[in-house]
Amino acid sequence: MENKIIVAGIGPGAESFITPAALEKIRAAKFLVGGRRAIAQFSASAQETCVITRDLNAAINFIREKISCAEVVVMVSGDPGYYSLLDLLRKHFPPAQIEVIPSISAMQLAFARLSLPWHSATLLSFHGRRPDNSDLKFAQGKILGLLTDAEFNSKTVAQILLENGWVENSNLAICARLSYADEKIIRTDLAAAANSEPVKHCILIVGDF
Ligand SMILES: C[S@@+](CC[C@H](N)C(=O)[O-])C[C@H]1O[C@@H](n2cnc3c(N)ncnc32)[C@H](O)[C@@H]1O
Repeated sequence: MENKIIVAGIGPGAESFITPAALEKIRAAKFLVGGRRAIAQFSASAQETCVITRDLNAAINFIREKISCAEVVVMVSGDPGYYSLLDLLRKHFPPAQIEVIPSISAMQLAFARLSLPWHSATLLSFHGRRPDNSDLKFAQGKILGLLTDAEFNSKTVAQILLENGWVENSNLAICARLSYADEKIIRTDLAAAANSEPVKHCILIVGDF
């Protein structure tokens, strides 16, 4: 039987948010792949590790090489089903060979921090991409949950939303470093964010809340 590639979500960051199921797989792994922070946080000296860098092919080659010997555990931030390496892994390996361990997404934690249900929110990603303006357009009662990156941050995204019909005093929550000791939830509005220092790699929640 073929060894599996286990894609384990590690949650938004702090160890208290990782599931016991993911932790068990990570601890038992002979081969462990993950970002620099995850490898530093979770790997043990007996494990053979591969740090994911911009050169994603290096990680794919590591998995290809090791999978014939044993399971390979790939750690991804948040939930694997929500903007992670899972997309790329499915292009290189048969989905039947991949097992996913779900986890808490940073998006879920952001909504939880506001005590706000997310079932009717429009969830979009500005992480390395720009959503269509048609999805960003203002509509009465609309709530947006947005992933960001360095370029598309609290300042530039606020400017984009103002260009898409949102009014200046629309509520905005900037949720940064979620789950960590230095977590910050800034409640502000679009006009203020568009004229303030950018917060990068955060979650933005916009709308009536
Ligand atoms: C490639 S996406 C990964 C999303 C991840 N799979 C998830 O479910 O949370 C990376 C983006 O997620 C958001 N993010 C991840 N961890 C975060 C945290 N601890 N606090 C705030 N935002 C976070 C940021 O917008 C970051 O740029």
